[in-house]
Amino acid sequence: MEALRATFSDREPRGLYAPIDYILDLGGKRIRPVVALLAARAFGDDEDHRLGMPVALAVEVFHNFTLLHDDIMDESPLRRGQATVHEKWDVNTGILSGDLMLIQAYQHLCNCPDPAALPALLHTFNRVATGVCEGQQYDVDFERRMDVTIAEYLKMIELKTAVLLGGALELGALAAGASQEDADHLYAFGRLTGLAFQLQDDLLDTFGASSDTGKLQGNDIIRNKKTFLFLKAIELLGLEGREELNQWFAASPEDPAEKVIRVTEIMQSVGIPEAVAQLRDEFQEEAYAHLDAAGGDAATKAILKDLAEGLLQRVS
Ligand code: IPE
Ligand code: IPE
Ligand code: MG
Ligand code: MG
Ligand code: MG
Repeated sequence: MEALRATFSDREPRGLYAPIDYILDLGGKRIRPVVALLAARAFGDDEDHRLGMPVALAVEVFHNFTLLHDDIMDESPLRRGQATVHEKWDVNTGILSGDLMLIQAYQHLCNCPDPAALPALLHTFNRVATGVCEGQQYDVDFERRMDVTIAEYLKMIELKTAVLLGGALELGALAAGASQEDADHLYAFGRLTGLAFQLQDDLLDTFGASSDTGKLQGNDIIRNKKTFLFLKAIELLGLEGREELNQWFAASPEDPAEKVIRVTEIMQSVGIPEAVAQLRDEFQEEAYAHLDAAGGDAATKAILKDLAEGLLQRVS
C-alpha cells in the first residue's frame, strides 16, 4: 500500500495536508484495500492491480476520513498508538482534513481504468458512504438512550462498519467485471465479516490492552456506548447488577477510572467475553457460506477466508 504514503508531502497549506499524511502514514491493518484488491483478482486478470487499485485506495482513504471524524465524535485521544489528529492539531483541523480526504476518495474512484464501470462503482460507493453516516448517527444517538435493543445495535454496526467492508469487496469485484450476483455474494461475505469484526472491536475496546489496540482502553464505557457488551450484560444480570450497570452508564464522571474498572468487572462476571465470541463466530460461519456461493478464483477466495479468520482472532 505504498501508494497511500505521504501523498501530500509538498502540498500547501501544510495545516490541511500534514494531518492527512500523518493519519495515512500511521498505517493500520489496511484490511479494506487488501480485500478490494483480492476481490478484483478473484474475478479479473488483475495481477498488477490495475483494476482493483483505484477502488482499494478509495475505500482506505474514505475509511481514514471516517476515523478522523469518528475520533472527534468519540473524543478519542489515541489512534494507532499515536495522538489522534484533533489532539495533535485541533478539532477544526480534523474536520477540514477529513473533508478533503472524502474528496480524495472520490478522486481515486474516478481513476478506474474503465470509464463505463464508473456509474456502478459510484452508485455502490455512495450507498455505502451514506450507510456509514447513518450508522455513526445511530451510534451517537444511542449514547444518550437507555432502551437500545440488541437488534438496534446490530443494525447500527451493520451501517457504521459492515457495509464498508462489504462495499470494499463489492467494489473490487465490480471493478474487475464480476456479475452483480457474484458481487452481491462478496458483499454479503463482507457484511457478515464486518459484523463479526465490529463485535471483536467492541470486545477489544474493553478487554484489549491499549498497547495492542493503539486506542484508549475503556473508551466505549467512558462514552456510554450501547455495545453488545453492555446490552448482553443488562440481559444476563440480576436486578441489583442491572441497576448498578445502568447507574454507571447514566453518569459521565470527570475521572472515569473507577467506572471503567467496575463496569469491566461486571461484564466479566456474567461471561460477556464468551458471549461476544459466540455471536462473532456465528456471523463468521454465515459469512463463509456466501464466499463459497460466489464464483471466482478458488485460490484467491481461500486467501480471503484466511484473512477473515485472522481478523476475528486479532488482538489489535
Ligand atoms: C477501526 O477500523 C474502525 C472500525 C470500524 C472498528 P480498523 O480496525 O480497520 O482500523 P485500522 O485501519 O486497522 O487502524
Ligand atoms: C467505528 O466505530 C466506525 C467508524 C469509524 C465509521 P468505533 O468508534 O468503534 O471505531 P474505533 O473503535 O474508534 O476505531
Ligand atoms: Mg471511535
Ligand atoms: Mg465511534
Ligand atoms: Mg471501537
